Amino acid sequence: MDSKLKTDWEDVGQWYDTQVGNLGHYYHRQVIFPKLLPLLSLETFDSPALLDLGCGQGILARYLPIHVPYWGVDLAPSLITQAKKRASAQHQFYKGDICKPLHIDKQDFTHVTLVLALQNVAHPDKALANAAHHLQPGGILAIVLNHPCFRIPRQSSWGIDTNKKLQYRRIDTYLQPLKIPIHMHPGQKPAKTTWSFHHSLSDFSRFLADAGFAILLIEEWASDKISSGAAAKMENGARKEFPLFLTFLAQKIS
Ligand SMILES: C[S@@+](CC[C@H](N)C(=O)[O-])C[C@H]1O[C@@H](n2cnc3c(N)ncnc32)[C@H](O)[C@@H]1O
Repeated sequence: MDSKLKTDWEDVGQWYDTQVGNLGHYYHRQVIFPKLLPLLSLETFDSPALLDLGCGQGILARYLPIHVPYWGVDLAPSLITQAKKRASAQHQFYKGDICKPLHIDKQDFTHVTLVLALQNVAHPDKALANAAHHLQPGGILAIVLNHPCFRIPRQSSWGIDTNKKLQYRRIDTYLQPLKIPIHMHPGQKPAKTTWSFHHSLSDFSRFLADAGFAILLIEEWASDKISSGAAAKMENGARKEFPLFLTFLAQKIS
């Protein structure tokens, strides 16, 4: 994919920082962190240390146990500034491109995370090679993605089957990799765009294997929101059936 593309969220940094705030946006708080933190099993490591790639304004750092050393890297300078403002003593933040070699010497992290970030980089294979480079053997990688099967920007949508009285998910394309511009505030001028990069499950599995990871677990996390009103039954049913997020838990094996 295009290596000259500007993928950082600097242009929408102020907006994103407001959305996330001190405690995270709705899905950070309600779905992602309550499910991700137990998966990391930080308490089972004698000296855990976590590298967060595409850390944004550092929300994950504020959910970790206070004693866990944390390094966050993101390409958007204003998000790194916001992260530093909220940082505790054991948190370090750097501006950097996670698809290129990082200016971090440490190569024995016990954990690397990519929370809603791998889908926003042009070269996920290189970001995963970086993750492997900075992890100790046996180290844990956790990736949370917008579900690549059901949430393909511009290529997936809801439909209603009136005969069956159900809401279904329509997927227009899936296997081919896509580079998709997202207009963050439609109608607003000048337009502010971020980029999403779609890959199939088999692509992600191949990227992980090539970077030296074995997949330990795949989880799929649905929204916990509940609709009310005339279409509530259909909407609640569909929400339970089509997960918002897909999570890979992987281990560095080589
Ligand atoms: C959806 S945000 C997620 C941020 C954070 N992990 C969170 O959950 O709030 C995606 C982030 O990826 C960052 N990003 C995109 N391309 C990047 C790259 N090549 N290197 C580092 N960060 C990048 C963006 O700047 C943005 O902060």
